[in-house]
Amino acid sequence: MLGRKSRLAVRALAILVSAAAVTSAECTREGLLAAADSYIAAQASGSIDGLKLSATNFTYQLNNKVADIKTGVLSQPLKIDLNRSTADTVACASYTMLISTTGAKPYVISTQIRHQDNDTSTISLIDTIAATTGALFFNAQKTLGYIQKENWGTLEEGQRVSREELKRVGDAYLDMWTDAKAADSIPWGTDCERVEGSQLTRPCGATLPHGGSQKPNGNRRYVIDETVGSVDVLCSFDSLGNMPDSHEVRLESGKVKYVHTVTVLQ
Ligand SMILES: *[C@@H]1O[C@H](CO)[C@@H](O)[C@H](O)[C@H]1NC(C)=O
Ligand SMILES: *[C@@H]1O[C@H](CO)[C@@H](O)[C@H](O)[C@H]1NC(C)=O
Ligand SMILES: *[C@@H]1O[C@H](CO)[C@@H](O)[C@H](O)[C@H]1NC(C)=O
Repeated sequence: MLGRKSRLAVRALAILVSAAAVTSAECTREGLLAAADSYIAAQASGSIDGLKLSATNFTYQLNNKVADIKTGVLSQPLKIDLNRSTADTVACASYTMLISTTGAKPYVISTQIRHQDNDTSTISLIDTIAATTGALFFNAQKTLGYIQKENWGTLEEGQRVSREELKRVGDAYLDMWTDAKAADSIPWGTDCERVEGSQLTRPCGATLPHGGSQKPNGNRRYVIDETVGSVDVLCSFDSLGNMPDSHEVRLESGKVKYVHTVTVLQ
């Protein structure tokens, strides 16, 4: 039998442990966006000093390959013309799009950042698709012109769809090259816009693939943000030949409004 003092001590400890469990289990939008902002600042300065990288579990991935963060695109300062981030509190991950039109090399960059154990105070993965001159339909100035005009405001509750539906649409989009029925399963909006590299298609539901390829687009990594109706999927675009790729889709009131693709040819 435990004495009264020890019983009190055990109870106090139990309370402490459960409080710690509650705080560490929470992945917040604020924490995700703060980490994404630290990444944007790092890319603007070309210095990773301000990034809180996990000491025990950190990976940098560039164009679908593990790379050295000190020699990748993040080690070069870029003048950033546009940045936009979304947050996925369930996966504890964020997605950031960056466009840099001036400088020795223009860039359009899609980056997912992941955090281990819901702890946004350290970063465990920076996963970047970086397109520059030579990438599919690459023209950062044109891409900037289209994307700057878009409205990515927070959706009203009634305009939002579930996480499952966002993932389903992201997957159906990437399945269009292998599954003849995928295109018709996507709720295209009548005034939607597709910006593939710098190529604009409007309405975006025009001229779609209906199967034909044998190899599905693989290695899919998702960032889903119900508050802006977006899903970003980084993948290997294997249906047309092992290309590092990002596909981002926004749904408004359940209908596709914007599609962005960043695809690196290699
Ligand atoms: C992380 O946080 C999210 C949202 O706060 C929650 O749904 C999820 O269960 C948490 N995961 C873990 C491993 O604690
Ligand atoms: C990122 O975009 C926001 C506006 O959306 C802007 O206030 C901020 O200065 C930008 N950051 C950089 C580094 O350009
Ligand atoms: C490292 O973090 C990633 C999330 O970025 C997680 O999926 C993986 O399980 C972690 N690895 C270890 C060994 O904890």
